Amino acid sequence: MRYSIIDGDISGVSTPCLVTDLRTARKVARAQGEIKHFTKTSQDFEDTAGDVVVVNLNGSVARILVVGGMTGTLEQATFRKLCKSAMTALLKLPIKQAVVALDSASVKGGGSAWKLRCAAAALSHLSYRYNTHKSKPAKPPSLANARLWVKAKTGLNQQARLANALDAGLRVAKDLGNEPPNICNPTYVLQQARKLGRQANVKVSSLSEKKMAELGMGAFLAVSQGSDTPGHMIIIEYSGGKKSDRPIALVGKGITFDTGGISLKPPGGMDEMKFDMCGAAAVIGATRAAIDAKLPINLITVVAAAENMPSGNATRPADIVTSASGQTIEILNTDAEGRLVLCDALTHVQKFKPKAIVDVATLTGACIVALGSHASAVYANDESLAQELLSAGEQSGDRAWRMPLWDEYQAQLNSNFADMANVGGRNAGSVTAACFLKRFIDDVPWAHMDVAGSAFQGGAQKGSTGRPVPLLFNYLVNQSTK
Ligand code: BES
Ligand code: MN
Ligand code: ZN
Repeated sequence: MRYSIIDGDISGVSTPCLVTDLRTARKVARAQGEIKHFTKTSQDFEDTAGDVVVVNLNGSVARILVVGGMTGTLEQATFRKLCKSAMTALLKLPIKQAVVALDSASVKGGGSAWKLRCAAAALSHLSYRYNTHKSKPAKPPSLANARLWVKAKTGLNQQARLANALDAGLRVAKDLGNEPPNICNPTYVLQQARKLGRQANVKVSSLSEKKMAELGMGAFLAVSQGSDTPGHMIIIEYSGGKKSDRPIALVGKGITFDTGGISLKPPGGMDEMKFDMCGAAAVIGATRAAIDAKLPINLITVVAAAENMPSGNATRPADIVTSASGQTIEILNTDAEGRLVLCDALTHVQKFKPKAIVDVATLTGACIVALGSHASAVYANDESLAQELLSAGEQSGDRAWRMPLWDEYQAQLNSNFADMANVGGRNAGSVTAACFLKRFIDDVPWAHMDVAGSAFQGGAQKGSTGRPVPLLFNYLVNQSTK
C-alpha cells in the first residue's frame, strides 16, 4: 500500500471512494448535490460501531464508505476497531485508490498524526497477503493507494513517510516469518539482510561459524552444530544519525526451525516452530522501517540465525559449553536454545557501545501461558527503557506488559557443574529465561521482549503477525525526536 497525505476542503475531493464518518459523508453528499440520494440510500444505516455502508454517488466522489460509530469522544481502542471494520470493507471494493478521512473523529489522546497512523496501520495489516507458494493465488485486494486526509497538513508531512516505512517493515517481517523453513534457513535470512544493505548508509556483515569459534561463541555453536545448514551472526549497521551518537541496538532470535534438538519436541504443532525466527524477522522489519523513514538515528541490528536440529553431531543434555562472555553453561535441555544463541549475540552487540539494547525472541512457551497472545512480555533492567517500550506499544496498539526480573529468580538457574544451567524448572519459565539473558548484560540499559505469544498465530489464521514491529518502530521514531 502507498500512503500520501492531503488536506483542504473535503467536499471538493475527487476519488473512487471516500471513507469517512456519517457527518462528513452528509456534508460531502450535500456539496455534490447528492444529499437526497444519499439520505435515501443510507436510511437504514444506524451509525453504530462496527457497521459500515457503501453509498454510490454520481459526483466526483464515486462512493462513500460510511464508518459507523464515529461519534462523541472515542477511546483509542474503539477508534482502532472502527478502522479495522472500515478497512476490511474498503479492501473488498474493486478500486485502486481511496481517500480516508477520519480526522474529524475525536479520540482521547489521539491527535491527527495518531489517527492517521492508526488508519494506515490497519490498512497495512489487512491488505497483507502471503501467496508465494500458492499455484493459484486468491485475487489480492486491488487498492494500492490510500490518500489520508487531515484538516491541516502542517507538521504532518513526514507522517506519510512513516506510514509507508511501517508498511514496508511489516511486510518484510511477515514474509520472513511465513516463509517455510526449507527455504528460510540461516543463509536465507542473511541474504534478506544483505538486500537491505544495498541501500544508502547501511552496512551488512556476518560472522561465520569459524569466526564465531574464534570469538569463543560456544553457546551459539552448540545450537548450530546439529544442523547441516551453518549458522550466521548477522550485523546490520544503519547510520542515519550523527557520527558521535551511540547506536540503539536491536537483537533478534533467528532459529529458522526449532525441533528441540535431542530434547525433541512432540510432533503436534511442530510446524509452528518455523516461526521461531520471528524475533529476527521483527528486528529486521523494524530496521527496514527505520531506513525507509530515514530516521536520524544510528542503529545496530544483530540477528542470531541458526537451526536447532537433532543429529549425530547435535549437542546433548548435560553438555557444558563456554559462552563468548567466558561464563560456562550446562545445557540441561537442548530445547532451551534461544537463550544460547542470544547470549552470544548480546555479548557481541555490546562491543558497539550501544546506548540501549532491545532483544526480541519467541523464547518460551511459558510466556504464552502467562500472557496469551494479546501482549508481548517486556523485561528490563532500566525503568525509562521499559516505559519507552510500553508506551510505544500502547501508541501503536501493539501492546506489551512488564514482567519481573528480580534476582530472587536467579537461583533457579544454579548448576552443580557449570556457572549456570540453561533451564530453570517449570515455574516462571519466561522469567528465568530473561534472568538467564541478564547474566550477559554489562552496565547498559537493556530490555528483553518475549514474543512467543504475539509474533504469530496458529489455527485457521496461522501466520506471522509482524509484531512487535509497530512497537519497535514507534520506539525508534520517538527516540529520533528526543
Ligand atoms: N521456541 C521455543 C518457545 C516457543 C514455544 C515459542 C511455543 C513459541 C511457541 C523455545 O525454544 C523453547 O522450546 N522453549 C522451551 C524452554 C524450556 C525447555 C525451558 C519451552 O518453552 O518449552
Ligand atoms: Mn526450543
Ligand atoms: Zn526456540
